[in-house]
Amino acid sequence: MAKATRAPTPVEPVHVAIVMDGNGRWAKRRFLPRVAGHRQGVDALRRCIHACAERGIGVLSVFAFSSENWRRPRDEVSGLMDLLAKALAREVPDLQRNGVRLRFVGERANLAESLRVRLLQAEQTTEAGQRMTLNVCFNYGGRWDIAQAAAKLAATGVAVTEDALGRAMALAHVPDPDLLIRTGGEQRISNFMLWQCAYTELFFTPCLWPDFDEATLDEALAFYATRERRFGKTSEQVETPVSAR
Ligand code: FPP
Repeated sequence: MAKATRAPTPVEPVHVAIVMDGNGRWAKRRFLPRVAGHRQGVDALRRCIHACAERGIGVLSVFAFSSENWRRPRDEVSGLMDLLAKALAREVPDLQRNGVRLRFVGERANLAESLRVRLLQAEQTTEAGQRMTLNVCFNYGGRWDIAQAAAKLAATGVAVTEDALGRAMALAHVPDPDLLIRTGGEQRISNFMLWQCAYTELFFTPCLWPDFDEATLDEALAFYATRERRFGKTSEQVETPVSAR
């Protein structure tokens, strides 16, 4: 019998998704307004984008504003909108220089017209970027994505199959995430990429998002490297190459 070889699990994930949680608590511990935590969160995001690009990660997706975040206090919601507009003005030239293609994923219809224009401009400015795709999930929810994909199929009369739904998703331009990181200590998905996370490896850390650094990213990547990805198969099937079965 041929000797079994180790599963060909890639050491580096192609697509990393992040729920950036803990900004509010980071601010509260310092007696600062919540929006100060989000501001630090933008700095952490900038560091994370560079660190992921340096490690050869092809796709990074971050949850910046959920469909449910509208329920937050009005000044926090407007603070997040403002932060996104300012971050774009400041960061887009750097992203373009570094070959990062920016995509916004989420419902745009109920965003301010001025913000919608900025999102589109940022996407157009960075569209030639080939080093990494950065999906900023903004006014996004996993249920929203599934519902809008189903509505597209219904409107065009296309039969509902897993393939057709997958192709109609707002995240159809990237492969499913290999690794999902959630900071802030909670261990839940919170309506992020419900469809796409079917076989994603999950890494939870108590680190608050503004404190997220290269060491925590490397901890998550080291965790990922220990995982055996079976996609519904048995361990033996994954470990034994097809030719030896
Ligand atoms: C969750 O932390 C975080 C958010 C709802 C916003 C995430 C946004 C950023 C990291 C900034 C980047 C955003 C833009 C607009 C580019 P939380 O507020 O729920 O923290 P808590 O659980 O400690 O209260």
